Amino acid sequence: MDTDARRPEPALRPANGTPVGGRKPPRVRIIPGGPILVEGPVEVVLDDGATVTSDRFLVALCACRRSRAFPFCDTSHRRRVRTTPPDGETPA
Ligand code: FES
Repeated sequence: MDTDARRPEPALRPANGTPVGGRKPPRVRIIPGGPILVEGPVEVVLDDGATVTSDRFLVALCACRRSRAFPFCDTSHRRRVRTTPPDGETPA
């Protein structure tokens, strides 16, 4: 028996596999080190209760909190601190 309380219950489905209510469940894809991709349009509720919407067919939600367009990803997650000197330079 699964006792992990953090794991959500699976969606209720009739025996034939058709989702309840006839709607296809929205697909969410988590990109490691990147955004969370959600089939749009979406309405996002922020920490302060404000809502923002996107009408795009695929919405990238920021998971790193570095985006200047938070809650939407602006690709800031790609910027990394250089750990090795550029070619031709010696380490300090
Ligand atoms: S996940 Fe892309 S900017 Fe945060």
